[in-house]
Amino acid sequence: MSDIKKEIERRRTFAIISHPDAGKTTLTEKFLLYGGAINTAGSVKGKANSKYAVSDWMDIEKERGISVTSSVLQFNYDDYCINILDTPGHQDFSEDTYRTLMAADSAVMVIDASKGVEAQTIKLFKVCTMRHIPIFTFINKMDREAKDSFELLDDIETVLGIQTCPINWPIGSGKRFKGIFDRESKEVSMFQAVSTGGSKSAKETDYSVTDAALKEEVGEELYGQLIEEVELLDGASEALDMDKVSKGELSPVFFGSALTNFGVEAFLKYFLKMTSSPLPRQSSEGMIDPMEEPFSAFVFKIQANMNKAHRDRIAFMRICSGKFDAGKEVFHVQSGRKLKLSQPQQLMAQDRKVVDEAYAGDVIGVFDPELFSIGDTLCLPGRKFEYEGIPTFAPEHFCRLVQLNSMKRKQFMKGVTQIAQEGAIQLFQDYQLGMSEIIAGVVGTLQFDVLKYRLENEYGCEVRLEPLSYGYIRWVKDSSTDLNSLKRLNDVKKVKDMKGNPLLLFNNEWIINMVLENNEGLELEDFRKN
Ligand code: G4P
Repeated sequence: MSDIKKEIERRRTFAIISHPDAGKTTLTEKFLLYGGAINTAGSVKGKANSKYAVSDWMDIEKERGISVTSSVLQFNYDDYCINILDTPGHQDFSEDTYRTLMAADSAVMVIDASKGVEAQTIKLFKVCTMRHIPIFTFINKMDREAKDSFELLDDIETVLGIQTCPINWPIGSGKRFKGIFDRESKEVSMFQAVSTGGSKSAKETDYSVTDAALKEEVGEELYGQLIEEVELLDGASEALDMDKVSKGELSPVFFGSALTNFGVEAFLKYFLKMTSSPLPRQSSEGMIDPMEEPFSAFVFKIQANMNKAHRDRIAFMRICSGKFDAGKEVFHVQSGRKLKLSQPQQLMAQDRKVVDEAYAGDVIGVFDPELFSIGDTLCLPGRKFEYEGIPTFAPEHFCRLVQLNSMKRKQFMKGVTQIAQEGAIQLFQDYQLGMSEIIAGVVGTLQFDVLKYRLENEYGCEVRLEPLSYGYIRWVKDSSTDLNSLKRLNDVKKVKDMKGNPLLLFNNEWIINMVLENNEGLELEDFRKN
């Protein structure tokens, strides 16, 4: 195998999805500890920032350099080269969070054992299923009182509509959490909490399930319960069908406790074994094989630097095939231009470094000479294909943009258009009034503050943001539909995007259903393929 193929083969590129506070940061940190990329817990950047109040966002933005670097973490573990894509949560939850999933080959879903599936997980999960990527579940915080394990599985199956296959099974939870039974080896790892500091892993004692000492350790009652539950599982749960796993139809489930570092390394090992190296991707010329095609990549995220002294933009691209060589020219398909990517950077744990080479599966950030848009393709000169575009996802918060100084219309339009192009906001116009009523839509409300700040500071435009009460937007599938011909739209706002596609804004799902019922043949979508 060539060196390039070997490098691609050992790559694993995934995102960790969860509802805020389920333990995504803690789990990521433990992975990094295992990879030797950091030495002590608590050093993953972004964690301290992850719970900031909205009013603090400017400080965060000033440090963009730092948060940029925490967008992707690369480290080695065993023979693997791991790329973890950060999916911002909390107030920073934005369309970027969805788009990052377009660059991942698989996802780890972290669920808080005491809560089950929560709102943000559902949204992120939907994007994963749309792409049919494998999803691995880590049920976290078993050291706290947890919901019944069968109930948790049931929750995942019914709320998310994916089959589950537990790889291991917990013995008790909270104060009575005794350990984890591995269904394949039939061994039990006994739980022993360790401090969360630098130590790599919790001390684990292993027993075979038939070992008399185990019964003594966990007590008659929990032992009996384990045997009973395992029998039930063996009889009732889905078999581990790797074909279904690879299509995202079945999720292998693991139990553990990230904070106490229990079950984390076992999970990481299984996960790396079960996931694949970078997969072929659909393009205008059919599937592009990561091993066969020379360098190609697509842009999935654009980040503007908030620091006035360096008002540059960084485009993040996921390499989809071959090897990136910083010395060579690449071809930007959408503009038809050849260029050398300037200052390509990659991230090793917290450090940003300029790289000369990178491989399929990796993510690099490059300076964007205001040329790139989200979804753009880069390949080698002589080749010309486009990767499938990145969908536009439905925003959930809307504001009317009122420009306070009408003399600055040009700057205002330039500002909102550029910020929309970076993907921070989406722009809509009133269906009738057109551009005289501009509406901005965002996935996370923090983006409104970013928008206002940037319009004022970068484009010199004072704006007032008038919140609209709608929380749901839907694209009308048939874009030739005349919205004025639809019935029962009293509580619905009719808008169009900047390309003229018709959309409807709703207050709740009940109204969406009512409109659908009253307009036969009408089809609505909560994302738009580009
Ligand atoms: P997130 O990135 O998904 O938002 O979650 P994060 O890892 O920040 O974890 C949220 C809280 O849950 C943290 O507590 C963290 O210590 C705790 N936590 C994570 N995993 C476990 C676990 O396995 N068991 C228990 N008991 N707790 C866990 P915090 O008090 O909010 O923050 P901190 O003061 O510990 O940093």
